[in-house]
Amino acid sequence: MATSMVIGTQWGDEGKGKIVDWIAERADVVVRSQGGNNAGHTVVVDDKAFALRLLPSGILYDNKQNIVGTGVVIDPKVLLQEIEGLEKQGKSAKSLQISDRAHVIMPYHIALDNAEEASKGGDAKIGTTKNGIGPCYADKINRIGIRICDLYDLDTFKQKLSYNVEFKNKMLTKVYDAEPVNYDEILADYIKYAEALKPYVTDTNIAVLKAVQEDKKVLFEGAQATMLDLDHGTYPFVTSSHPIAGGASTGAGVGPNYLKNIFGVVKAYATRVGAGPFPTELLDETGENLRKLGHEFGTVTGRPRRCGWLDLMVVKYAAGLNSLDYLAITRLDILDTFKELKICVGYKLNGKDVEGFPANLKDLEACEAVYETLPGWETDISGIRKYEELPENARKYVERIAEVTGVPLGIVSVGPNRSQTIDLVNVF
Ligand code: GDP
Ligand code: IMO
Ligand code: MG
Repeated sequence: MATSMVIGTQWGDEGKGKIVDWIAERADVVVRSQGGNNAGHTVVVDDKAFALRLLPSGILYDNKQNIVGTGVVIDPKVLLQEIEGLEKQGKSAKSLQISDRAHVIMPYHIALDNAEEASKGGDAKIGTTKNGIGPCYADKINRIGIRICDLYDLDTFKQKLSYNVEFKNKMLTKVYDAEPVNYDEILADYIKYAEALKPYVTDTNIAVLKAVQEDKKVLFEGAQATMLDLDHGTYPFVTSSHPIAGGASTGAGVGPNYLKNIFGVVKAYATRVGAGPFPTELLDETGENLRKLGHEFGTVTGRPRRCGWLDLMVVKYAAGLNSLDYLAITRLDILDTFKELKICVGYKLNGKDVEGFPANLKDLEACEAVYETLPGWETDISGIRKYEELPENARKYVERIAEVTGVPLGIVSVGPNRSQTIDLVNVF
């Protein structure tokens, strides 16, 4: 069976898009299975940067099938803009297929995301991307959501929209003191979007299953990351989907036995955008230095990302939750100028070693990171293409990550470009 998967092991923005693009060269199909346009995956091809949000990163090749699966929440306006932007950059979205079962982000989801965040006091704010992701998933769970297939059944669409607009407007105006949304405008806009998206809509569950069963090379592209998982992340400072490996099974509609060759993407240091605990965060000059060297500003919101040392308690946790087969270490080049580097290999809570990952955020905040210090390599590694040519200290750094987490190295990335990649395994 020829499948592979790319999963974020930290708080997102690890470089999943770059790794998917790299593996996709040898794949036939690339599948997104959860999240929505809260994702921002930057892929650099021949020095040209593409910022993908809903489109799978395989879209930059001419000969791949690209699937947006059932577990994704789709803002049709954003998707159409993304397709248009791609076409303006000389690429085509002809190969795109979107699930008829996927839920649709409506304007009231975005209005509620904004209103809910605004109503939360300082420390309670999640710092969402305000794209309506959480409210859309909430409607799905509440069984009042609107799915892509509903857009093509006008009676059903009108009935669901009318129920939702009435209910959401009560929430918006009476609870949040916010502006209501307009039923007629939404109806007209979404009929137009549905028409434009029609060529792409299909039963992607069948498409994915068929591809897997026909032994095609299928690559699952994770969005967000393990620590943002609704169940296993730093709740409530998480997203509203399941970015872990199991989420790809439910989201794409394939059984778990089909999921092989799972890559956990590990940024060589740690970042987080949005609120929530971050045990290795650096609020000093070193953190600022990392942000500058790494241009750590969100692709979607432009917000500065919080930066810190690599936390292997997080990656170890991700290794188990995702049954990782390989590590893909990214952005190693960003550490090129450091004399010394720290990695967190454990937490101490009230003087005792912590096993597993704390559920209670107060405990997590009280945890003290236990660091190991490793020597830097103080060499530009961005031009290196062979593992054995990396400076010894760079190899020691990544090998220590593999040792502590118990997951072998699969890929080391030394720059944003497709070519700046070192393969240690070949999965397809
Ligand atoms: P994603 O959301 O996980 O796909 O990651 P983002 O695209 O949001 O952020 C990762 C950023 O790092 C992007 O700008 C990538 O082009 C860039 N990137 C990926 N791998 C590397 C690498 O090895 N070195 C450097 N310098 N940049 C990288
Ligand atoms: P990629 O795929 C980094 C974060 C938000 C916020 C929390 C909830 O590019 O790695 P949401 O809008 O999902 O309800 O926000 O999750 N978040 C991300 N952080 N990378 C992402 O995606 C993210 N998607 C959501 O910042 O803290
Ligand atoms: Mg991103």
